Amino acid sequence: MNKMEIKISAMVENEALVRTAISAFALNINPTLDEISDLKTIVSEAVSNAIIHGYNKDSTKDVYIKAVIENQEIRITINDYGIGIKDLKSALNPHFSSKQDEEHAGMGFSIIKALSDDFSIRSEENIGTRVYIVKKFKKHYQKV
Ligand SMILES: Nc1ncnc2c1ncn2[C@@H]1O[C@H](COP(=O)(O)OP(=O)(O)OP(=O)(O)O)[C@@H](O)[C@H]1O
Ligand SMILES: [Mg+2]
Repeated sequence: MNKMEIKISAMVENEALVRTAISAFALNINPTLDEISDLKTIVSEAVSNAIIHGYNKDSTKDVYIKAVIENQEIRITINDYGIGIKDLKSALNPHFSSKQDEEHAGMGFSIIKALSDDFSIRSEENIGTRVYIVKKFKKHYQKV
């Protein structure tokens, strides 16, 4: 088992940092380019949700990212202590966005669901949101 944790200020600019850190961490399990690309997308969607929706881009607030690698899978939690989600069922609907007017397609959760092997959300209004994602990686034989 290998683990990592990062805490970032809720700034959109920090999304790239998290994406890069998680994909570098996942290099330990010898991923394909497609797997890394999916992982980056998943992480970006969840982190941007925490920053944009959870905290309304209040950069004095923090987003917490934890990842564990074990048995060819990575388990990630993305946690914010922001506004939370009042109606989780609607939020999970493709095309639902509370910020549709700001060019949000409402596709983030659908993308995460499609690209991950397991995905769950716990959220409470005015307490915060925790997104849990599992992504499995195939075993590859390395050429020497
Ligand atoms: N961390 C969060 N805190 C509070 N609300 C959230 C959080 N994550 C998601 N939501 C709510 O769930 C809705 C759906 O999220 P989703 O990522 O699917 O779409 P979006 O972010 O609105 O649009 P897109 O991801 O396509 O830019 C959001 O519009 C928001 O209302
Ligand atoms: Mg989103």
